[in-house]
Amino acid sequence: IEAAVNDGPLKGKHILVTSGPTHEPIDPVRYIANRSSGAQGTAIARALLGLGARVTFVSGPADVAPPIGVDLVSVQTAAQMLEAVNAAQDVDAGVFAAAVADWRMATASDQKIKKDGKGLPVLEFAENPDILATVCASRGRPKLVVGFAAETQNVIENATAKRTRKGCDWIVANDVSPATGIMGGAENDVTLITDDGAEDWPRMGKDQVAQKLAQRIAEALG
Ligand code: CTP
Ligand code: CA
Repeated sequence: IEAAVNDGPLKGKHILVTSGPTHEPIDPVRYIANRSSGAQGTAIARALLGLGARVTFVSGPADVAPPIGVDLVSVQTAAQMLEAVNAAQDVDAGVFAAAVADWRMATASDQKIKKDGKGLPVLEFAENPDILATVCASRGRPKLVVGFAAETQNVIENATAKRTRKGCDWIVANDVSPATGIMGGAENDVTLITDDGAEDWPRMGKDQVAQKLAQRIAEALG
C-alpha cells in the first residue's frame, strides 16, 4: 500500500523520471533491447512519491511494475520516450534513469523479415536522439537534472566526462559489468558526481539508493 503521499519535503514539486529499457523494432516481431529491468528508476519514482512529489514516470518496457501513484507514460522506443519527456510541463527536477537504446534501425521493416535462402540480413543502424542532453539544452530546463552513467570500465572518468558533455547537474555513475550483478540485480553501487566532486556510496539495495537520492533531491530543491 502506498499510503498518504503528497506530503513531505517534495510536496508541490513535479519530478520527471525516465526508466527501463527501450525497444527498437527491427520488424513487426523483433526488436533491439538491453538488460535494464527498470528496478532502479522505479525505486527512485517510489521514493520521490514517498517524499510528496508529483511524479511523471516515463517508462520503457520494464520487468518491474510502475509504482502506484505516478503519472505513468508507457513507451516502447527512444523516439517515443523523447516525445513523452518533451510533453511534460513545469518540471522542477528530472531523473534520467532509463537505459535508452543508443541505436535504432535506420528503417524498420514493416513486414517480418524472412529467410529467403539468399544470405543473411544486414541491419543498418541510426543513432537515437539523446533525451538527457536535449532536456539539458532546452528552454524549459528543470532546475535540477540528474543523469545516470552506465559504464563497464573507467567508470568515474567516463561518467565525469558524460556529465560535462550532456550538461546535467548530477550524474549517478554505476559499473554495469556482468560480474557486479547490478544489471537486473537488487543492489547498486553508485558514485554521485556533482560540482563538489565524486561521492562514492557504499553498495546497497536499489531501494536505499533511491531513498538517498530522493533525499538529496529534496535538499537541492529546497
Ligand atoms: N540517455 C538519454 N538518451 C539517450 C542515451 C542516453 O537520455 N539516447 C541518458 C540516460 O538515461 C542516462 C545518460 O543519458 O541518464 C547516460 O546514458 P549512457 O548510456 O550511460 O550514456 P551514452 O551517452 O548513451 O553513452 P554510451 O552508452 O556510449 O556510454
Ligand atoms: Ca548509451
